[in-house]
Amino acid sequence: MLPDLAISHDFSLQTCNTFGIDARARCYVKIASVAELAAALAEPRLASMRRLVLGGGSNIVLTGDFDGVVLHMAIKGREVLGERGGHTLVRAAAGENWHEFVKWTLAQGLGGLENLSLIPGTVGAAPIQNIGAYGVETKDVFHSLTAYDTASGELRSMDAEQCRFAYRDSVFKHAAGAGLVIVDVTFALPTVWQPNLRYAELAQAAQQAGLLAPSAREVSDLVVAIRRRKLPDPAVIGNAGSFFKNPVVTGERCAELLARFPALVHHAQADGSEKLAAGWLIDQCGWKGRSLGAAGVYPKQALVLVNNGGARGEDVLALARAIEADVAARYGVQLEPEPVFV
Ligand code: EPU
Repeated sequence: MLPDLAISHDFSLQTCNTFGIDARARCYVKIASVAELAAALAEPRLASMRRLVLGGGSNIVLTGDFDGVVLHMAIKGREVLGERGGHTLVRAAAGENWHEFVKWTLAQGLGGLENLSLIPGTVGAAPIQNIGAYGVETKDVFHSLTAYDTASGELRSMDAEQCRFAYRDSVFKHAAGAGLVIVDVTFALPTVWQPNLRYAELAQAAQQAGLLAPSAREVSDLVVAIRRRKLPDPAVIGNAGSFFKNPVVTGERCAELLARFPALVHHAQADGSEKLAAGWLIDQCGWKGRSLGAAGVYPKQALVLVNNGGARGEDVLALARAIEADVAARYGVQLEPEPVFV
């Protein structure tokens, strides 16, 4: 038998998105188990509605009221599954808070997720955009996940290849993954752990702190300190982290740009392409710290758009479009937003 559901109507989503945009949903259901998810999908009153599966709401821009049902993933649970071939497998349910989960793994004596400390959002959202920071991406520590297939009503186990991870991207952001709802994620953490200090800023922070061989907890503390210094706390200033992806251009195009802009920040990729720093491009266009209506560019990091208070989706969109236009005009580079527009 399917469980009873508590369906809320005309529900404010302001506290469900880190941008703090006050849009409303026609219906809202908190999902605390796979059985509740199945019940929500089978519920006749919701059957004809558009669906939005929401985690921590840290990677969305609500462009207006949502005329449909929001399924707010709140499935909880985490466990150490045991050792397999040099790794310890740990599983967490989709509704677990990401940073709390990272701290929990560290408390179990397990390293591997520390570079991803303090990223807002939930465990279930981590694979969707292959969250990454300070030289580590979800795909590097990923084992598998369980997804609920809304078309067949069945649970499906998916490995990394099936998830098609790429830079801030996965199958879940594309049509092929649209009917899949992630219910839990399993990570493979190295049994023999070594710090990953390949990201220059992190290595520098370790050196400055006099940490030659930091522990996983110490790396986590360093990452938390860097993030607190550069990124706004969504609980205080509404934002969705990096608003744009770092654009990737051909080596040839990068060389042309460098000839005109010698200070251009760029990082060579394994395939010969070059990743440009969107924050630098936006900064150079003079947008850092500037506002357009109720939306603004964070003064300490030009890649982050913020809600100055009372911003609506259209304010954020107008600011994003103005930035994109300026960067395109000056550098001929098209910026691509990272969050999903709803
Ligand atoms: N820069 C500027 N001005 C700015 C911001 C950045 O000149 O206002 C320059 C910096 O000096 C640096 C370069 O741009 O040379 C890159 O900046 P940074 O190292 O801070 O990283 P990022 O490219 O801005 C990316 C991720 C972040 C992640 C950090 C650390 C993307 C879109 N963003 O930011 O991810 O935390 O690296 O790994 O890939 C997120 O996705 O929400 C996010 C915060």
